[in-house]
Amino acid sequence: MSESFFEKEKNVRQYLEMTADYDGQWFLEQFLKHIPKEYRALELGIGPGKDLENIRQHYDVVGSDYSFVFAELYKRSHPEVKIMVLDAVSIKVKEQFDCIYTNKVLHHLPTEDLIQSLQRQSEVLSQDGLVFHTFWRGSGQDKYDDLLFNYYETNELKKFFEQHYTILCIEYYKELKENDSILVVAQKTTK
Ligand SMILES: C[S@@+](CC[C@H](N)C(=O)[O-])C[C@H]1O[C@@H](n2cnc3c(N)ncnc32)[C@H](O)[C@@H]1O
Repeated sequence: MSESFFEKEKNVRQYLEMTADYDGQWFLEQFLKHIPKEYRALELGIGPGKDLENIRQHYDVVGSDYSFVFAELYKRSHPEVKIMVLDAVSIKVKEQFDCIYTNKVLHHLPTEDLIQSLQRQSEVLSQDGLVFHTFWRGSGQDKYDDLLFNYYETNELKKFFEQHYTILCIEYYKELKENDSILVVAQKTTK
């Protein structure tokens, strides 16, 4: 199978340069506000690992990415942190987590895969488990090289999440421009 966008080292290097100034403070503040300190968390799509770096100062957390290149880069500089190569759709783990989170990752999935990922996440979560995810707001999709960007409005996201979760928070925030992004925090629904 051919390598996808972030499995290519040149794209990873370019992304690292582009995001060098990102400090992740807003994401950390929101995470601290919504996720209990004793919750054990799994991050899908760590990328350069800035969010992981911030969150692991406060939580017990395992990092992952489907890109071996990103996973290895972080692992090499942080051998003390558990890092896995995981696809956000299949999430092939045996253990359960109290929280699964992503920051601007799930928009790279085709919509059917996003729906499947949310279902798989609910299986990996412990009882009362929480998901914490961010999305680009809008409609339609873009493709950069073979990298997909899907944009969603809150009503669509609500529909996807409500199949397996009770939504605790869904709000707009500013990444680059006012209200260009959406944060969703939701709790696994008890069957
Ligand atoms: C915007 S970056 C995440 C940045 C990260 N939150 C940080 O702290 O810098 C998006 C990441 O999603 C990962 N990704 C894309 N599709 C994925 C998938 N299907 N499964 C897991 N990770 C994926 C990419 O490899 C990339 O590292």
